[in-house]
Amino acid sequence: MNYDIQPADTLHGNVQLPADKSISHRSAMFAALHEGQSIIKNFSEAADPHSTLDCLRKLGVGIQIKDKNIIQVEGVGRDGFLHPSEDLDCGNSGTTMRLLSGIIAGSGVPARLTGDESLSSRTMKRIIDPLTEMGAVIEARDNDFAPLNIRRDIPLNPLYFPLPIASAQLKSCVLLAGLYGEKPTKVIETLPSRDHTERLLNLPIEEENGEKRIFSSREDEVPEQSYRVPNDFSAAAFWLVAGAIHPDAEIVLPKVGLNPTRTGALEILQQMNVDIKINNRHFEGPEPIGDLSVYSSTLQPINITEEVVPNCIDEIPILSVAMLFADGLSKISGAEELRHKETDRLTAIAEILEGVGADFKEYKDGLEIKGDPDFIPDAATFQSYHDHRIAMSAAVLGLMGTSTSTVEGGECTAISYPGFWDDLSMLTN
Ligand code: S3P
Repeated sequence: MNYDIQPADTLHGNVQLPADKSISHRSAMFAALHEGQSIIKNFSEAADPHSTLDCLRKLGVGIQIKDKNIIQVEGVGRDGFLHPSEDLDCGNSGTTMRLLSGIIAGSGVPARLTGDESLSSRTMKRIIDPLTEMGAVIEARDNDFAPLNIRRDIPLNPLYFPLPIASAQLKSCVLLAGLYGEKPTKVIETLPSRDHTERLLNLPIEEENGEKRIFSSREDEVPEQSYRVPNDFSAAAFWLVAGAIHPDAEIVLPKVGLNPTRTGALEILQQMNVDIKINNRHFEGPEPIGDLSVYSSTLQPINITEEVVPNCIDEIPILSVAMLFADGLSKISGAEELRHKETDRLTAIAEILEGVGADFKEYKDGLEIKGDPDFIPDAATFQSYHDHRIAMSAAVLGLMGTSTSTVEGGECTAISYPGFWDDLSMLTN
């Protein structure tokens, strides 16, 4: 479906953001691994976390939606999963496929994991290799892509695993399989990626000389997962940038997850001189949250380098939009991982920038964007590439034009943010 974006005269309002996607996936999976009931409040209504719920149900986990976004999970414990009679359809969700593969390989319950066209073209070799070393047998298309047929016929081998890429999905996959080992699996992380798995599972951690070692084994009890999921910082980022670049804006974003391994974009925007206030900081379960407000700002350029990329990986498309309005040249490097997301996001951003007449260069691992505080984007017809974050970034950029732009296939925002188009019209009216 096509969505028209009218230039916005003002952007004012209080946005009830969707629940955090990464935490929603984990809360449900870990509640299933816990022996006993968990009640999860503010569970995401987006498509991806619901793919996780559907897969867990097929593994014999009782899940009831109690109220719009309160779910009750009857945890079966790590050895309680049933052999699914159908494929586990992970939809568009990389997190579902990669984390669940760890649980399936660990539990030894044979299963076949499938995904949509986009997910079936994303590399799974990064998880196939370590899980195979741990004793799983995985059949995959071209030894790399879904569908994945997973089973395990021998006891699980604990793994010593220095992470070859800064990926929270890979880290979590190996740690989840490790939960089934008699001896600890040890994951070594040098570039920090989001830490929800180790935090919510309360896994043992050692930190020394910038190196983090995370352990998992049968010894680790999986805690009950009864808490309120914070609102999604990655969704907040679209409005933080919209508020910053628009000359007449004041946007309030309550109860946003502020886990420091997720808020790289907040620090980047603050370094770009964006006026953001944080109030009412506190914890919801093991995760920190706070209320954010953003106001129209005069943006400075920024250089985003490899070591901060994992903490703003999902926000780079919308940060690129912010860079267009900064006073000078901004740069993103060390971000090749973006080429392996729901679409090749570096190419998709470049197409958007091209469409609005921006001055930029695309590199193998990033972008260089020449900004101008007075930049007026040309009206454009943007392709979404069926990628929620690309569609939402294009929509925010369209607000800054002087005539109507269009986002093609904009319904894909429902993957992480089902209320996005309603919130956009609320803010502009
Ligand atoms: C996620 C981790 C990130 C992120 C994705 C969600 C997670 O991927 O891009 O949207 O929930 O673990 P990688 O850490 O694998 O890059």
